[in-house]
Amino acid sequence: MSGPRVERIGAATLYHGDCRDILPSLGAIDALCMDPPYEFDTSGGGAFRAQRENMDQIEAAGLADGFDHSVISGDQFGCAVIFAHNDQWASLLPHVAGQFDRYAICQWHKSNPLPVANHHYQPDTEIYVHAWKRGFHPAGDLRQKKRFIVAPNGQDGSIDHPTVKPLAVMRKIVTNITGETICDPFMGSGSTGVAAVELGRRFIGIERDPKHFETACRRIEAAQRQGALMLAVA
Ligand SMILES: C[S@@+](CC[C@H](N)C(=O)[O-])C[C@H]1O[C@@H](n2cnc3c(N)ncnc32)[C@H](O)[C@@H]1O
Repeated sequence: MSGPRVERIGAATLYHGDCRDILPSLGAIDALCMDPPYEFDTSGGGAFRAQRENMDQIEAAGLADGFDHSVISGDQFGCAVIFAHNDQWASLLPHVAGQFDRYAICQWHKSNPLPVANHHYQPDTEIYVHAWKRGFHPAGDLRQKKRFIVAPNGQDGSIDHPTVKPLAVMRKIVTNITGETICDPFMGSGSTGVAAVELGRRFIGIERDPKHFETACRRIEAAQRQGALMLAVA
């Protein structure tokens, strides 16, 4: 039986397939950095439902159904950065805390949140946890080690994916990760890979959707080319 499609682009190795099949074959990796499918009830929203821009797209793409927590394993990774929705933390945090020695809860503050709140808070913050084992503690100087970053949500429309993370956020996170190799098993459009390649790390990405896989290949290849160009003119 043939294995998954693999693209090698400079320091990046990209797998097209299901991370639950591929991850166990990859052995020990320094860092996990992932933005997995969230788990929330998309039926809500009340009077504001129509304003919640891409909720329908997220649901249609199967990105509101959660994920298997066992992909976050302290046996495989030295550290892990994980984004999750508000409603996932109650079950996710005990799992993460059980796999690593220490963790910090960090935040991306959106400078342009949707102007809705209904019976909840405004969607102006996304939480991620950075967890690590001894030897993989957060990297960077004092200025880089803030627990939050402020950056706008959204993109210019050139990337066809409903939940693209901003590069400013991913660059901060990669800067704070200790380890040469970073793996994103829910790669989406490849934002983690672009930041990793830009900042001189090795990257392993996995994505099961063929369209998003192609997008990630294209973006990571462009980042790689840009890096080579900068080196050539330096
Ligand atoms: C929330 S998105 C990640 C978006 C990414 N951070 C970005 O900036 O584009 C999650 C991605 O995981 C993919 N996915 C979901 N389940 C998967 C699985 N079991 N294996 C591999 N990819 C999966 C989805 O197709 C989706 O593109």
